[in-house]
Amino acid sequence: MNLAVIGTGYVGLVTGACLADVGNRVTCVDRDQAKLAMLHAGQIPIHEPGLADVVTRNLQAERLSFTDDLATAVRDADLVFIAVGTPPREDGSADLQHVLAASREIGDAIERDTVVVVKSTVPVGTCDKVLDTLRAALRARGASWQVSVASNPEFLKEGNAVDDFQRPDRIVIGTDDSQALRLLRALYAPYNRNRDRLIDMDVRSSEFTKYASNAMLATRISLMNELSQLAEKLGADIEAVRHGTGADPRIGPNFLYAGAGYGGSCFPKDVQALAHMATEHGVPADMLNSVQTVNERQKRVLFDKVSRHLGTRLAGSTVAIWGLAFKPNTDDVREAPSLALIRDLLAAGARVRAYDPVASGNARREIPDPALEIVSRANLACEGADVLVVVTEWREFKSPDFRWLAKTLQQPAIFDGRNLYEPDYVEECGLRYYGIGRAA
Ligand code: UGA
Repeated sequence: MNLAVIGTGYVGLVTGACLADVGNRVTCVDRDQAKLAMLHAGQIPIHEPGLADVVTRNLQAERLSFTDDLATAVRDADLVFIAVGTPPREDGSADLQHVLAASREIGDAIERDTVVVVKSTVPVGTCDKVLDTLRAALRARGASWQVSVASNPEFLKEGNAVDDFQRPDRIVIGTDDSQALRLLRALYAPYNRNRDRLIDMDVRSSEFTKYASNAMLATRISLMNELSQLAEKLGADIEAVRHGTGADPRIGPNFLYAGAGYGGSCFPKDVQALAHMATEHGVPADMLNSVQTVNERQKRVLFDKVSRHLGTRLAGSTVAIWGLAFKPNTDDVREAPSLALIRDLLAAGARVRAYDPVASGNARREIPDPALEIVSRANLACEGADVLVVVTEWREFKSPDFRWLAKTLQQPAIFDGRNLYEPDYVEECGLRYYGIGRAA
């Protein structure tokens, strides 16, 4: 098929490259010239394992191309994907200006009947607005092409996006147009394992499914984080509790990890947008609001522990931080707990020496303060530091040399924001251990 993908952010780029990889001709459209220049050269603006290979392979095979010319890209397309950003507005609602601008441009350009597929995460009802916008643009130039709009939300996880795209647990398609459904079924056939991964439904339910999924996942995390606070007070270990509760198949073992709070470009924004939708429709959003409150609180937990440990020595101390990305295998620091921690430490008069395998540049842009020193190796962060805080569970942090740390840190203590270590063993090595939800 001939496909156009509008927006080469993380969703658009992964979608375009992976769909080219199974034989489609894909034109990805973006306005950002600097980004286009990188992509033409096979360079990827984000750190996403495996993505550069897929992009390069398909550029070479001439199945994938990048352009700023939306009109030409959509003119010949069997399907046009909208994958532009929907950033949060001040009031928490999703900003649809990019989605609607793309819809107008598509309506101005198409020269045949076209199916437009919305991949961006959009509030329920947006596909109807996209359809109205397309039709208005067509009417304005006296064109009478048939257009329909399908919802096809994305469930990729950063750091695992290529694999998630190639082996999805579900492909959700919302449409009331049987021809559009047929096209999308054919497009996704290579990924429809056992022919049972594709779930079709009406447009609004599909739009809602995306928010409901993220809200459900964020709720699990906030509940575990709240339970972890209580576990500490009760002298229980949240890791044992997680193991014990997750063994119930109704609960399941995944996504039950207490930690430093959830971050990223999805959960915070989507839970907020869903709460906004609820409020707008007069539906109480108590659960969704609590999920956010608990998460904001959780992002302060590591700071509180460090500050209790160091007491009056906090101002003037140096804190080593391992991990700046909001999760491993990505360079994304949006809403990362590390940033909240660093800002609190700097405000309290501490200095920070931080290390991350790939997210340093992005973190530096967020916090240009010279009291934050970013170093190029994990051990360097600890030299001359008082204590160590582990915020992101990168693989290289999983089995450090605790005895070396005990000798190197001035006030030997490790704050394990992801419960990676055995508390007894760490203490045996001469460090004070603080985890999340483990008796301190
Ligand atoms: C999330 C969803 O998992 C994807 O299904 C969805 O497609 C995506 O949002 C999106 O809406 O685009 P992502 O934000 O990339 O994906 O990352 P996750 O792996 O879900 O992690 C989100 C946050 O939750 C991270 O800060 C992570 O550290 C935290 N987390 C995750 C926990 O604190 N505990 C857990 O048990 C799991």
